[in-house]
Amino acid sequence: MHTNSATNLTFTDYHPVPADFYEEIVAGLNQTPKRIAPKFFYDARGSQLFEAICDLPEYYPTRIEKKILMDHVDAISKAMGPHCCIIEPGSGSSDKVRLLLDAVNPRGYMPLEISKHHLLAAMDRLTQDFPWLDVHAVCIDFTGDLTVPDHQDDAHRVAFFPGSSIGNFEPVDAMRFLRDLRAVVGDDGGLLIGVDLKKDEATLNAAYNDAAGVTADFNKNLLVRINAELDGDFDLEMFRHWAFYNADAGRIEMHLVSECAQAVRIGAHTFSFSEGETIHTENSYKYTVREFQDLARATGFRPVETWTDTNDLFSLQYFAAA
Ligand code: AVI
Repeated sequence: MHTNSATNLTFTDYHPVPADFYEEIVAGLNQTPKRIAPKFFYDARGSQLFEAICDLPEYYPTRIEKKILMDHVDAISKAMGPHCCIIEPGSGSSDKVRLLLDAVNPRGYMPLEISKHHLLAAMDRLTQDFPWLDVHAVCIDFTGDLTVPDHQDDAHRVAFFPGSSIGNFEPVDAMRFLRDLRAVVGDDGGLLIGVDLKKDEATLNAAYNDAAGVTADFNKNLLVRINAELDGDFDLEMFRHWAFYNADAGRIEMHLVSECAQAVRIGAHTFSFSEGETIHTENSYKYTVREFQDLARATGFRPVETWTDTNDLFSLQYFAAA
């Protein structure tokens, strides 16, 4: 553990091992249907593209979630209770938690982030803007073994998982992750989570097929990365972005569609594509409030309060440990 005495910041590094990009890409493209895990979207360019997605008029989740956080901050902070320690898995730039800090006035904030560089940069900014806040930064892959240091054991813990990132987990993995979070927050803990809601298909389809083509660039960035980092020869003109709401599965699916029969080389491997064959790159599950409550209940959480926007597009849900 490293303690920076100039600020109220401590840092614990669990030295997460980065995924083996080459090995996982080759394994995924050898599957039928072909797939690439969405975690590979987020290199520097992909992260910038995702930030641009969040500002798009069609992509409502970020905008609406922030509005819900701001509109209901007093009720949210009441639900979270005084003097908690907020634990945020996948904290990234820690932007959204800023909307809570003044009202919640937590004893501590524990961001969990796999990128040491992003974590330390975000915490430099946060400790400058909130000099009174005790921050315990933890560099960890939160999808792996979820353990956190024992700081401030007397404060009750509330996990904060905004952005409907839970939607990118398969439901069984979402349940496994929520169980892990339940173990981390303990019997007096809570969970504040952003969950995107089921709604009319046109709104959903537009959110993942924006007119400016930013989501298409985000999706295709996977191929750009493979070409640059793994000696690949994907012809970007010969693959097209495809996103649609699969109502039976309750999820947006994103794919890259091969425009023709073609062979693509990645290092020493060659992969054949038939015309119209796809690489499945992401699922984004949508829930009703009730469906998500049932899922969370099965993992040891009790629904306490839900806040939504006036059009019921997005929800922020608070759960206590059951
Ligand atoms: C990060 N995640 C919640 C986004 C989503 O909506 O599933 C990722 C994304 N994919 C395309 N647009 C945004």
